[in-house]
Amino acid sequence: MFHWLEQRPFFFAVAVFIIIAFAGVIEVIPDFAKESRPIVGAKPYTILQLAGRQIYIHEDCNACHSQLIRPFKSETDRYGMYSLSGEYAYDRPFLWGSERQGPDLHRVGNYRTTDWNMNHMWNPSALVPGSIMPSYKDMYSQDIDFGTAYAEAYTVKKVFSTPYDKDLNGNGKIDVPLGSYSNAKKLALQEAMVITADIKNKKIKEAVAEGKIPQIVALIAYLNSLK
Ligand code: HEC
Repeated sequence: MFHWLEQRPFFFAVAVFIIIAFAGVIEVIPDFAKESRPIVGAKPYTILQLAGRQIYIHEDCNACHSQLIRPFKSETDRYGMYSLSGEYAYDRPFLWGSERQGPDLHRVGNYRTTDWNMNHMWNPSALVPGSIMPSYKDMYSQDIDFGTAYAEAYTVKKVFSTPYDKDLNGNGKIDVPLGSYSNAKKLALQEAMVITADIKNKKIKEAVAEGKIPQIVALIAYLNSLK
């Protein structure tokens, strides 16, 4: 049978095309399903969370951590509800990851507190004996790159119509404000203050009170948002 096919290159090419096109359609169909639209309650990242996400990407956290909980009992028991595609509606790029040297982080905001993360990122093996996760002490003394985070939000708003400055639930309240650069900066600082209100680390608290935003605060804002 294959001999017959190999003697007809044109027909062979057409057959290959049809089979690949068919497989492609099958793969794409789930994306049109309801679950892949932004799920109710999904919101774009605030600028502070975006800055944290950029640090996460920069430090390559997804080389060790996935953000995709599969629908298996062993995973849902440990991490919670399995991941739905609509939850990633505002993720650019996706950070699903394929490695799990560490646990999945897609819902880590549900069970790790700001204070715990603050101590853990400083020295993971002090909290989790035997941990192979590196410490990230630089994040406590370096400030975020606010300009790049603002630029990202501004760009995805313009290019992908990510709903910043919009009332998503129709309750007359803007869900994630962006506005002007200076306004966004003020909001990010306010958010940083809320996050640092319940931590014990004095140095970080003082830095935020002086109007600075250390990287660790943005990273934790991002981790807290993973729910
Ligand atoms: C070399 C691999 C590696 C890298 C890189 C890494 N981690 Fe981890 N991470 C681990 C391991 C292993 C654990 C489990 C042990 C522990 O809690 O320390 C962990 C645990 C965690 C936890 C606790 C999760 C839980 O459910 O208890 C968080 C949060 C976390 N990592 C965040 C990060 C962030 C943010 C980065 C990037 C700045 C990062 N990790 C980079 C390996 C890594």
